[in-house]
This record gives sequence, structure tokens and C-alpha cells, in this order.
Amino acid sequence: MKIDPWSSTTYQDYTKLRDEFGIEEFSNKTWKDLPNPHKLLRRGIVFGHRGFQLIQDAVAKKKPWAILTGLMPSGKMHLGHKMVIDEVIYYQSIGADINIAIADIEAFATRGHTLEQTKEYALKEYIPSYIALGLKPEKCRIYFQSKNEDVKDLAYILGKKVNWSQMQATYGFNGSCNMAHVFSPLIQTGDILHVQLKKYGGNRPTLVPVGVDQDPHIRLSRDISQAHRLFNVTVTKDKKIGVFVKVDKDVSKLLDNAEKTLKSLKFNKLKRITDYKAIYIEDATKEDIQKIDIALAKTETKLGGYGFLPPSATFHRFITGLTGDKMSSSKPESAIFLTDTPKDATKKIMHSKTGGAVTLEEQKKHGGKPDECVVYELFLYHLIEDDKELYDIYTSCKNGKQMCGECKKYAAQLMEKLLLDIQEKRKAAEGKIKKYLSI
Ligand code: TRP
Ligand code: SF4
Repeated sequence: MKIDPWSSTTYQDYTKLRDEFGIEEFSNKTWKDLPNPHKLLRRGIVFGHRGFQLIQDAVAKKKPWAILTGLMPSGKMHLGHKMVIDEVIYYQSIGADINIAIADIEAFATRGHTLEQTKEYALKEYIPSYIALGLKPEKCRIYFQSKNEDVKDLAYILGKKVNWSQMQATYGFNGSCNMAHVFSPLIQTGDILHVQLKKYGGNRPTLVPVGVDQDPHIRLSRDISQAHRLFNVTVTKDKKIGVFVKVDKDVSKLLDNAEKTLKSLKFNKLKRITDYKAIYIEDATKEDIQKIDIALAKTETKLGGYGFLPPSATFHRFITGLTGDKMSSSKPESAIFLTDTPKDATKKIMHSKTGGAVTLEEQKKHGGKPDECVVYELFLYHLIEDDKELYDIYTSCKNGKQMCGECKKYAAQLMEKLLLDIQEKRKAAEGKIKKYLSI
């Protein structure tokens, strides 16, 4: 299996995907201590993560943390695009500092859109919708990749520690790929890591909520963030905890600094071996590694490094299209667009592919299959807040008490309400978005 961020595959077996790529499970344990966890988190739609522990910790200790996500605007926004922003809005409500990249360079490099076109889509379609959905624009930073010098500089500089073999292995690039495309993952790494530069808030946990297709970019950014570190904290072969200097310059000075940091964390049994560029910490355990690593990272910027904490990420499933395959802008009957009229949306829902049986009799007898039903997915992802109500629909469908016709009507009603609400708020947002952009 390969994850290709530019293909249009949907992934059926998310558990397998998670295990194969070493993505961690986003389980009840992961979200239960967050304040009012969002439905996408509670319901297993966000199914995996990398390094979310840093975020849990920051939330619990009320320390600063950031969200960075990006969008590649192309055409109209549909329910599939709404998910990331729903997550972002939730994280904004619990205190994250929000950063949103408009991926105009990537859209140019990989989709052939001009920067101008992308700007138009972003300003006319996406950003007003984000605000209509509840994003508080005063408290977030939205920028264009092509206009942010720090992102572009970082992309170029960070590229120094990735080689072509790694890019080929990660993305399947070959000799006929154009260089703008080849470079675009580094721009995304620039997006993800630049929020940890001093100017943007400094070294702090950063969460990147994305669809699972973006995992290659997440792995790349996490690798790169660590490749540029000055220190590395690990368990050695003989099970000791060691801090190692990763560069060849100023080793003594760096070890002095590490020693000072370790002492401030109250580790006292330190054994320094300058020739190995190492300090062994005899009174530390595996559980201390994260704490030590963060403390060291925070000192690195004063020593000429970046001190990047590895960016965390969550991965969500893709919503199924109403036709039963992918929800896609290029197939309007598969998608509900945020600008669809309630009438159009109703029509699409009425024609959608459910998990109902062939005849009513059969459905009454054997029940329906909500797990294979796109109408149920609409409830699950977008239309029903209350878990109990959702559960009741699930069971009455399974028991054959609920029939698809009625169920679709109910979905259409809720959808109408949702769309009218978004559309009204969008109108209000349209006129005032420019002032919120950091262009
Ligand atoms: N590559 C993303 C997409 O295809 C867009 C994107 C650009 C992004 N920069 C990002 C996503 C940074 C997350 C983080 O939609
Ligand atoms: Fe889907 Fe509702 Fe039909 Fe069940 S009754 S299969 S949830 S449309």
C-alpha cells in the first residue's frame, strides 16, 4: 500500500492503513481529557495520530500550542472539505493558536492552477465559508504560501537534510516529475514548521489536522524537524538515557548547555563523555525523555539551531460521496457543496446510496446497514450533535424499525437547516475578509 497525497483514492480499510504506516490509534484515551471533545474526535472519524501526546500535555498543563493546517483551494467547497475546518474551529475554542496556509504554490505545482486563480478561490469561496462555519478570524492567521518569505526560506534551507532517494521513496517521484512539484512537499514542511520560529510564537507543540492522504508530508516534516535538531535524547543499547550532540561544531559548548538544562530539571547523576558527544543520565527513565527533549529544544535557538518539536498530526477518514464512491467536486451528484440550495441538496440525498435492503419487507425483517449507508454518514459527520440521538437512529435502522425514505427526509431537513445557516453567515463574512489576511 502507498499513500499518495495527490491521487484521488479513498482508503477503505483505515485500521490496516494505520497499522501499516505506524500511525497511532486515536482512541477514547486520546481525546477523553480534552474539553468538550468534538464529534469528529469522539466518533472515530479522526482515527489516527502521530505524536498527539504533546498536544494532550499542552492542553492539560495550559501551555501554548498551535494548529497549522493548509488548504489547496480548487473550485467549490463541499462537506468533505468542511471536516478539517470543523476540527480547527474546535481547537480554536479550546485555546490553540490558529494558522492556516493557503497552498497556492502547491496548487500551481501539482494542479496547474495559477496563483491568481487560487487566490480568487480562497477569497471568494473558502475563507468566507470558514468564517461562516465558526472560525473566529480575528484570532487566527491566514496566509498564502507564495507570499510568506519565512515559509519559502525555510523550505529551501530544510531541504538540505533530505535527499532525492528519500523523496522518491516517500512520493514515488520519477525522472519526469517537474521540479516545482518535487519541491512542494518542502514548502508544506515550511508551512508546518515555520510556526515554531520565534516570530510566529516560538518552539511549541503544533498540531496538523489532516486527511490521511497527507501522511507522507507529515512523516517528512517530522523527520526533517528532528534532522535539524542539535540534541537527541534516546535510550542507548545498554538501556541508559543519553543526550547526544548531533553536530560537530561547538560540541563542548553544547554539552555545557545540556548539562545546565539537565540540572535545572533536577537530574544529578550525569556522566559526560565529550569524545562520544554524550551525557548519560543515570537518574532518568524512559518516561523522562519527552520532558528532557522539550527542555533541550527550547535552548537550541540560542545556540544557532531551530529546536523544532516534532509536529503532531491527526488523521481523519474521508466522507463517502452520496453516490457511494468518493465525494468529489468533479462529480457534483456525489457531493453536497456548502453553496448548494436546499432543493439541490435534498435531491442528492434522495438519490443517494443507502444501506437499506432491496424491499421494504426485507428491511423490516432483517434491518438496514447503517455502517454502509451514506445518509447515516451525513448524520455521523455533520448533522447530529447528540450521540444518543445518533445511537437511536443506528439501532432503529439495524432493527428494521426505520425505513430509508423517512430517514432521507430527516437528513434533508437537517441539511437544509445547516446550509441556510452557513449561507446566511457567508454573506455577512464576504465583505470583510481582506482585513484578516496577512498577505
Ligand atoms: N497539501 C494539502 C492539501 O492537499 C494542503 C496543505 C498545504 C497543507 N500546506 C499544508 C495541509 C500544511 C496541512 C499542513 O490539501
Ligand atoms: Fe441508512 Fe437510514 Fe436506510 Fe438505515 S434507514 S440504511 S440509516 S437511510
